[in-house]
Amino acid sequence: MREQRKELCASLNEKLFLCPEIHPETPALNEIRPILWDNGTLKLLDQTRLPAEQAIVYLNDYRGAVAAIRDMQVRGAPAIGVTAAYAVVMAAKELPTDDRTVFLNALREAGDVINAARPTAVNLQWAVRRMIEVAESETEMGRVNERLLAEAKTIQAEDEAINRRMGDFGKELMPDGGSVLTHCNTGALATSAFGTALGVIRAGWEAGRRFQVFNTETRPFLQGARLTSWEFQQLGIPATLMVDSAAGIMMQRGEISCVITGADRIAANGDTANKIGTYSLAVLAKENGIPFYVAAPTSTVDLSLASGDEIEIEQRAGEEVTHFRGAPTAPVGVEAINPAFDVTPHRYITAIVTESGVVRSPYVESLKLAVAGS
Ligand code: MRU
Repeated sequence: MREQRKELCASLNEKLFLCPEIHPETPALNEIRPILWDNGTLKLLDQTRLPAEQAIVYLNDYRGAVAAIRDMQVRGAPAIGVTAAYAVVMAAKELPTDDRTVFLNALREAGDVINAARPTAVNLQWAVRRMIEVAESETEMGRVNERLLAEAKTIQAEDEAINRRMGDFGKELMPDGGSVLTHCNTGALATSAFGTALGVIRAGWEAGRRFQVFNTETRPFLQGARLTSWEFQQLGIPATLMVDSAAGIMMQRGEISCVITGADRIAANGDTANKIGTYSLAVLAKENGIPFYVAAPTSTVDLSLASGDEIEIEQRAGEEVTHFRGAPTAPVGVEAINPAFDVTPHRYITAIVTESGVVRSPYVESLKLAVAGS
């Protein structure tokens, strides 16, 4: 039976990115893993093509990985962190290792290029820093590439384990008999596997809690409509899609029991940058007396920033607002502004689910403990 299942997984692997060899103990057929390192090639499930097509991007050099992050073929804070780690592996492979200083300087330069791919999600810089530190700690140059690959694989495996832990902690927050609203895509596609906020919803569902799920379409890139709705379908969890601007009426009419989102960067005081529209949801939740939860690994916490005012907000091309897949959705020549993220002040956040546990205000203290305990 297990062999049969493995064979089926292998044949579906190119389609759904199922990868039983990464997690032999959980070879669920509907497990989505969007990032695969396959013998020197980085394979990504192209998130710009979903849900219409399950296409794979094949990458053999780090510049390609930078482009894939920038163009959002891979997206979501933890997923771009994992991709960045493999990008460092590919950058290192291009470099001669005979002179350690020259190698390290060139690797740091490549690290800067990778870091610049997208500015808001701190997981990218966190992963690059972790990888460069591994290279710096290796004095035996014959071993450096092998060490880097092992570290990237560890970052990827840890991410999944962390998400499952967050799911365990967060499932208690899922309202049996109620309803949950989520924003953007925070599922397996945004991570190595399982997801953050979507992972918590999944864990609640798997624990037998039954609640209605609503997800926003998430203009303009439609991560909610295209990716989250697709993931819920793969998981067999019924979810209802709504336009972003329906959140107000849904909360006002008592249709939402709680909101849960992911995060791209959390400042030391708990202020949280996440997909544009998150702040509006949090304000609406407070106005309507609804708990607002964030789920994020501690690699998303940036203790070097005192508050969210210091978080750089990525501005993306106006064409993402005026066009969809090349087709205009606004008059030709119209100007559009396109901030990709916003910052939710900590006072709107009821609790943050991390792999160290569920933390609450005062976040200055609780986040520090969560990071130390991770
Ligand atoms: O622009 P994206 O799609 O990379 O933005 C993703 C988000 O805002 C997610 O909510 C966040 O990265 C958390 S993902 C687990």
